[in-house]
Amino acid sequence: MSSSKTKKRQSRKKKPAKKYPLKVEKIGKKFGGLSAVNDVSFSIEKGSITGLIGPNGAGKSTTFDLITGITNPDTGSVKFDGEDITGKRPYQIANVGLVRTFQITRELKEMTVMENVMLAPKNQIGQRLSSVLLGGGRRKVESQEAELLEKAWETLDIFHLDKLANEYAGNLSGGQRKLLEMARVMMMDPSMILLDEPMAGVNPTLKKQIITLIKKLSKDGYTFLLVEHDMDVVMNHCNPIIVMHNGGVILEGTPTEISTNEKVIDAYLGGSE
Ligand SMILES: Nc1ncnc2c1ncn2[C@@H]1O[C@H](COP(=O)(O)OP(=O)(O)OP(=O)(O)O)[C@@H](O)[C@H]1O
Ligand SMILES: [Mg+2]
Repeated sequence: MSSSKTKKRQSRKKKPAKKYPLKVEKIGKKFGGLSAVNDVSFSIEKGSITGLIGPNGAGKSTTFDLITGITNPDTGSVKFDGEDITGKRPYQIANVGLVRTFQITRELKEMTVMENVMLAPKNQIGQRLSSVLLGGGRRKVESQEAELLEKAWETLDIFHLDKLANEYAGNLSGGQRKLLEMARVMMMDPSMILLDEPMAGVNPTLKKQIITLIKKLSKDGYTFLLVEHDMDVVMNHCNPIIVMHNGGVILEGTPTEISTNEKVIDAYLGGSE
């Protein structure tokens, strides 16, 4: 690891944790005449599993794009750990600890599962998931590459992909691709993870495993923002829940508040206006 990278990582670790690491203020994005995201503001609490829901086309994925630098907002600002990240490139945002997965997974199909995971961290080692989840200490390894490989094996193991390490990513099922997408972003040593429909196409057993993992990681201080259409998952595991409709936030509340709110029920029953 170069000394500048080491310094960057150390300075990131030293910062005191903010109660609300992600603050989105009045962000907006128009595509032609369509206001995909309009005046959206919210703050996400550290260690929470916050849900972001809304009917198809509500603006959820675009909001993720605006937060993570895939698309620049026309208006508003995004702050992460007190730093203004508005308009920064995705890799710069990932470097400060904020990562995301995509609704349509982005694995490299011609490469193996292991190669996909090894690509993710750009030579940064950082904290290993096993030390967080299993309380294990670090073993001494001979080189950074060996350490990276060990971290990759552990991450694949945690995401139940170790037996598929040599399989081409293009041969994975939809659910396995979702797991690979999560494994790749966890290799980047994030503190906050935005997940865009992580349960879509995932079988019930795998779903339970993903939820268990997310809950364990959130207890350890990782923060999650979850876009998800599976209402069982959202209502049972996310709190608070933010509801979007037609590009705007219509409500933020507890699962009970959300499920009994008329505006929310209308949004889902009525579709887009
Ligand atoms: N690059 C783009 N160019 C033009 N319009 C876009 C673009 N990206 C998104 N949109 C439009 O912006 C609106 C919000 O889309 P977005 O993908 O954010 O919705 P979503 O809430 O994620 O929906 P879903 O639940 O179906 O994934 C939609 O009307 C969509 O067609
Ligand atoms: Mg979407």
